[in-house]
Amino acid sequence: MAEGKNFEVVEGTNLREALLEQDIDLYSNGAQIFNCHGHGICGTCLVKVEGAVSEPTKLETTRMSFPPNSSHKDRRLSCQVKVLGDVRVTKYEGHFGEGEELLWTPEQGLVKATAKVS
Ligand code: FES
Repeated sequence: MAEGKNFEVVEGTNLREALLEQDIDLYSNGAQIFNCHGHGICGTCLVKVEGAVSEPTKLETTRMSFPPNSSHKDRRLSCQVKVLGDVRVTKYEGHFGEGEELLWTPEQGLVKATAKVS
């Protein structure tokens, strides 16, 4: 579940790809354009993930050791996560998703409006 949507994916599916496939607003503001497209470098695909997912990759562990991501041990880089079962995904505000205020929750779509870059 993410952004108020409940959907199924094949076990092992990349979480970032699954979210984007469902038109879920994974990226905030300028990160919609300026992101590393799933290479684990930019850190802007940061989300809170609850449920059955893969362990952090070495790449994710490295990127998560740098600010602002490093201060959020409860969050993951969705591009480095494989879905292994039921998961609940939450996005927070901030360029990376590093804020404390919710953007969307598993059950609820946009909680707080974010500017869309077109
Ligand atoms: S998309 Fe850049 S780190 Fe995930």
